[in-house]
Formats: sequence, structure tokens, C-alpha cells
Amino acid sequence: MKILVINGPNLGLLGVREPEIYGKVTLADVICQLQLVAAENPGCELEFLQSNHEGAIVDRLNAILTDAPVDGIVINPAAYTHTSVAIADALRACDKVPAIEVHISNINSRESFRHESLTAPACVGMIAGLGTDGYEWALRALIRRIQK
Ligand code: DQA
Repeated sequence: MKILVINGPNLGLLGVREPEIYGKVTLADVICQLQLVAAENPGCELEFLQSNHEGAIVDRLNAILTDAPVDGIVINPAAYTHTSVAIADALRACDKVPAIEVHISNINSRESFRHESLTAPACVGMIAGLGTDGYEWALRALIRRIQK
């Protein structure tokens, strides 16, 4: 089982960027946490992509249908959540592959422009507001869903 974990723009700065909103945990810490979860599940392999570029995220999602298939996706599209028809379409293009959207902060309790997610309707579910632990819950939910 292979799961792709995508993080969008500015999430490479996790731990440094607005820690009062996003916390002090770094992206490297999140990756370690997710690798521990994967290790509990024999045969579960993770691939990580952090990109500040919408097209790079679309390219990787498109490759799922050609030379780089995966069984599931955990995605925090960050600011592209609220703007990217392209990422939403790319997720829909591989709709056989379940995706779970993660937001570290509770986007519904923040500025109104963050309330709408263009990408969440293309996912099987969304976790928001649980801090970086949300990535772990998303990964566990995805593994359980794929195993069923
Ligand atoms: C975010 C929420 C977005 O609104 C914001 O642009 C981010 C991070 C989150 O994880 O809470 O960059 O996706």
C-alpha cells in the first residue's frame, strides 16, 4: 500500500510560520510521526511532497494515473484550498484513489475567505483544527479505508 502525503505552499515553514496558529511542530516532525504510523502497518509505504507551486502538485496528482500510482492521498493544499480549481480537478481525475484533506487550523473559525474549500468536495473527508495530529488521524483513516 502506497500513500502520498502532499503539503502545499508555506507548509515547509511549519514550526516557524505563525506558531500561534500552526504550532511549533516542524514538517520533518510530522513526517517522522507519519513514518511511525506506517511502520505499524506492514507493507505501508509513504511518499512526501511539499511544494509551493500549484503546477507541481497537479503534476504529481496526474502521475498517479500514469507512471506513479498510489493507493491513497493525504493532502493539505494550504492556501490553494481556497483558490485552486486545478488541484480540485486533479483530485477528481483520480477519484478511484481516496484522498483526505487536512488543515492544521480550524479554517471554519478563521477569516471568511478560508471557510470555503474548493478541494474538499473532491476528497472522501476532511480533518481541520486538530493541529498537526490531523495528519496522523487522516493517515490512519485512509489505511483503514484501503484495507476494507
Ligand atoms: C491551512 C489553512 C489555510 O487556510 C492556510 O492558507 C494554510 C494552512 C491549515 O493547515 O490550517 O496555509 O491549510
